[in-house]
Amino acid sequence: MAYAFLVLIVALAVPHVSAQGTPAPPSTSPTPNLPAPLSAAAQEFLDGHNQARAAVGVGPLKWSERLANGTSRLVRYQRDKMGCKFANVSNSKYGGNQLWASGGQAVTPRTVVDAWVKEKEYYNHTDNSCLPNHTCGVYTQVVWRKSLELGCAQATCVKESASLTICFYDPPGNTVGESPY
Ligand SMILES: *[C@@H]1O[C@H](CO)[C@@H](O)[C@H](O)[C@H]1NC(C)=O
Ligand SMILES: *[C@@H]1O[C@H](CO)[C@@H](O)[C@H](O)[C@H]1NC(C)=O
Ligand SMILES: *[C@@H]1O[C@H](CO)[C@@H](O)[C@H](O)[C@H]1NC(C)=O
Ligand SMILES: *[C@@H]1O[C@H](CO)[C@@H](O)[C@H](O)[C@H]1NC(C)=O
Repeated sequence: MAYAFLVLIVALAVPHVSAQGTPAPPSTSPTPNLPAPLSAAAQEFLDGHNQARAAVGVGPLKWSERLANGTSRLVRYQRDKMGCKFANVSNSKYGGNQLWASGGQAVTPRTVVDAWVKEKEYYNHTDNSCLPNHTCGVYTQVVWRKSLELGCAQATCVKESASLTICFYDPPGNTVGESPY
């Protein structure tokens, strides 16, 4: 790891209490809509997520420019107005994962996703439980089968010498009482 004294703090994922209706079927548009090529960062976020999902037999997420734009606005707001603190995403209609990292440089998307997936070691899929005094909700959002789309953005906060990453998931995961996959 290239970061000597990097401190990574993973935000608590907010469970979604609202019972989700059946998710809308993926739109089957007859006109093939060729998406613009993804940025290297977007591809790295997507690859990290989709590798973790494939490892437990869950299908891949698709990149969403709409979600990415949403996280981009939010992460810049947290940088400019909120001292680089975690955003309050508890009322969001999307699932939200966040990572705060020390240091004046943005951490790579791979480092971010690896930090989230690290919670996997505390997660027991047999009974959908998490080790006491640990959290697993960030990991379970990453591998949540019903989440289909992903968008992420990062901001570097010069004054705080830190960076913040936010990803949104649609539909949101972590519905209370449901297993991620
Ligand atoms: C996302 O933001 C870009 C740049 O501001 C804009 O060109 C694009 O139309 C937006 N896309 C969506 C789906 O909101
Ligand atoms: C986040 O927002 C919700 C609803 O707006 C509020 O109830 C909650 O206290 C807020 N959490 C924090 C940490 O500010
Ligand atoms: C996971 O949960 C099951 C069912 O409660 C239990 O039998 C098993 O020992 C747990 N696995 C670990 C690694 O704790
Ligand atoms: C969890 O943390 C609390 C408070 O720090 C401590 O009292 C408790 O023993 C811990 N439980 C386990 C299972 O580690």
